Amino acid sequence: MSVLEIKALSKTYLMGAVSVRALDRVELSVEKGEFAAIMGPSGSGKSTLLHLLGGLDAPSDGEIRLAGQPLARLNDDELTLLRRRRVGFIFQFFNLLPTLSAEENIALPLLIDGYTLAAHRERIDQLLDWVGLSDRRSHRPDQLSGGQQQRVAIARAFVHDPEIVLADEPTGNLDRKSGQAILTLLRNLCDERGATIVMVTHDPLAASYADRVIFMQDGRLVQELRREVPPALQVQAIHDMLQKLEG
Ligand SMILES: Nc1ncnc2c1ncn2[C@@H]1O[C@H](COP(=O)(O)OP(=O)(O)OP(=O)(O)O)[C@@H](O)[C@H]1O
Ligand SMILES: [Mg+2]
Repeated sequence: MSVLEIKALSKTYLMGAVSVRALDRVELSVEKGEFAAIMGPSGSGKSTLLHLLGGLDAPSDGEIRLAGQPLARLNDDELTLLRRRRVGFIFQFFNLLPTLSAEENIALPLLIDGYTLAAHRERIDQLLDWVGLSDRRSHRPDQLSGGQQQRVAIARAFVHDPEIVLADEPTGNLDRKSGQAILTLLRNLCDERGATIVMVTHDPLAASYADRVIFMQDGRLVQELRREVPPALQVQAIHDMLQKLEG
């Protein structure tokens, strides 16, 4: 089943007299349980695509369906709920609230909905366990390492068991070892829990964890590599493709 279906998606930004076509008739579908990476030169439209998928911005043309439902049909309140409950977001800079503990940060989408931590104890414990932070539940972000903070952000993204998780450079601010731990965690969430992830990255090693690497250039999807070669070869193939597109 396709969790995400994108048809002829375009986005044009108007800047006074100048218009920038950030996305140009993008077609894409992502299946449940799939881990897709999006790569491409700076300005190729990756973040724009992710913003539209998460309902953070509206397309100029085309259609996005999440679990069969066209996003364009949703009103503002419904879009707010979609972003809170059905889509998980992971960012480069973790975006945790500094005064909340790890478990409160994980529970934040529930707290916003008016639930207490106690009412969802089991779910929060399960998420702490998945991301390996059961013994750090009371730590505030400034008492956690970067990698641990990102694991809190990942647990939070999954608190509502979302249909899709969108990640923009989730390892961009981490050292190599912490980054690989995060990627292994995301890979396992897809393999073992059926999570569906779309991740933007500049790093061929990060992209090699994905089932598919989709390459963008000038707002279009121009290439795709499937994960079938041994990992080391995959990293090289991704690297070469990126070099070619960056010219
Ligand atoms: N809010 C905006 N208003 C006007 N133009 C924009 C806006 N956001 C993005 N753009 C333009 O759209 C194009 C795509 O931008 P986008 O941020 O999607 O690129 P990207 O692939 O994420 O790049 P990077 O790798 O540098 O993050 C760029 O030419 C950019 O200048
Ligand atoms: Mg970007």
